[in-house]
Amino acid sequence: MIKITMSEENYLEELLTCRLDLKKRAVEPCTIVIFGASGDLTGRKLVPALYHLFCEKQLPEPFRIIGFARRPKSDEQWRNELLADLKKFSKYKDLDFSRWPVFAQRVGYCQGDFGDAQSYENLRQRLMTSESEKWTRNLVFYLAVSPSQFLEVTESLNTTGLLKKEDVPGSWQRVVVEKPFGRDLVSARNLNLDLSRFTQEKQLYRIDHYLGKETVQNILMFRFSNFIFEPLWNRNLIDNVQITVSEDLGVGGRGGYYEEAGALRDMVQNHLLQVLALVAMEPPVSLEAESVRDEKVKLLKSIRPPVVTENYICAVRGQYIEGESNGQHIPAYRQEPRINLQSNIETFVALRLFIDNWRWANVPFYLRTGKRLPRSASEVRIGFRATPNVLFAAQCGPHLDTNSLTLRLQPNEGIALHFNGKVPGTSTEIRPVRMNFDYESEYGAYTPEAYERLLLEIMAGDSTLFIRRDEVETAWGIVDPLLQAWAGKPLEKNEFYAAGTWGPSAADDLLQQRGHKWRMPHGIGDK
Ligand code: BG6
Repeated sequence: MIKITMSEENYLEELLTCRLDLKKRAVEPCTIVIFGASGDLTGRKLVPALYHLFCEKQLPEPFRIIGFARRPKSDEQWRNELLADLKKFSKYKDLDFSRWPVFAQRVGYCQGDFGDAQSYENLRQRLMTSESEKWTRNLVFYLAVSPSQFLEVTESLNTTGLLKKEDVPGSWQRVVVEKPFGRDLVSARNLNLDLSRFTQEKQLYRIDHYLGKETVQNILMFRFSNFIFEPLWNRNLIDNVQITVSEDLGVGGRGGYYEEAGALRDMVQNHLLQVLALVAMEPPVSLEAESVRDEKVKLLKSIRPPVVTENYICAVRGQYIEGESNGQHIPAYRQEPRINLQSNIETFVALRLFIDNWRWANVPFYLRTGKRLPRSASEVRIGFRATPNVLFAAQCGPHLDTNSLTLRLQPNEGIALHFNGKVPGTSTEIRPVRMNFDYESEYGAYTPEAYERLLLEIMAGDSTLFIRRDEVETAWGIVDPLLQAWAGKPLEKNEFYAAGTWGPSAADDLLQQRGHKWRMPHGIGDK
């Protein structure tokens, strides 16, 4: 018998590791200009991600960050604010702060007003009078600003000559826009049209940070680098699919934004539909950005738009009222800061969607998301069909669990296959067991933050993990009928749910209609 020691095993794994990045383009020296430099996203996510990449030696050389915002402050003040945020928000416990002074030298601040032409001229001066010409050739404009300012900033950059729509050999400019991209189909179309006056599509990077998550990227690897799952991945074997993105938190300090958005715009139009597209799309012809995005768009186009009538319920909304979570009293949504006391905004959505294509005909895809639910967990549960009603099934009836596969996107990142087995002992008992793959025990605790990956892709000019123009519009087309049906229709009594519960009971009825039940997602601490 050959005995494999641990190090030999690692060696074999190393041999079997296939490095796809080698064929990809490298990150290029550039300046990242962050509009909305004083905002939440910059301090919480963007700069911590850039600093971590810097420590990991993954940033290009040279690189530079310029923050652009209204409040007057010096470079030094901004750096100090960023350092304080980094200490507060970085998720890495052993982050090495000794590299900060070197990093901070690359960080500068430019005070300016988004609507003021002179401010852009000042920015231009600042960018052009730099020691390294490499910094000025390539520019990333990161718009961490309110969507109503996307156009104004892009147009001003173009007018100042900082953003050129035509290709200039040896240089590039890229514009990154955060979600929400529009408020509905019409506004998204208009925004696309407006932005296309100043940028080519290949210069625009529409962010959905879920696509930067390791576990979300792994959906494609899991489906298309394994042989055994693909034959199962269709209506013949799959009975229903559940996608849950639940949060135990409320809206925090973002009440003003949330009152304009609601769960459908904030989560379903983007994150949930993106996950759905990756789970259900056909294999792309190649791993090129356009091939992958073509397949996602094709899938989104096959989703039957939800029809809302008195007699046919395919979507449920809800808003939380006061309740209890982890032993703490939670106030109602309407009592949160900056929320209208009569607010009609949904903090919960559950949907049943059908994909009208050959692979998925008649398989319900259930989506649910909400704030102030019992736990924060994102996962996809692929539910397989029941066994024929003979042998064990005939005796156990509904007690015999159906097989399922769970992709745990967060927390406890991993994948589990659920099947039935005999409980050891002299009696005959069957119960579900799991085969579990756990990221942490397999790869260790380090998985990069979504923004790290996304920022690297932008600097490398790879659009695969970003939303294409037709994609964002198609996704709006799916949620538009619901936005219209709910707009101005006051929430009814049964649409409220107590904080700390799984939403209105109608969300359970939605599945019950077809003999299904929501599966409990895994939370922190569950193994
Ligand atoms: C954001 C939403 O896009 O995603 C937030 O605007 C939400 O409301 C957040 O809380 C959830 O992201 P994550 O990565 O914590 O699941």
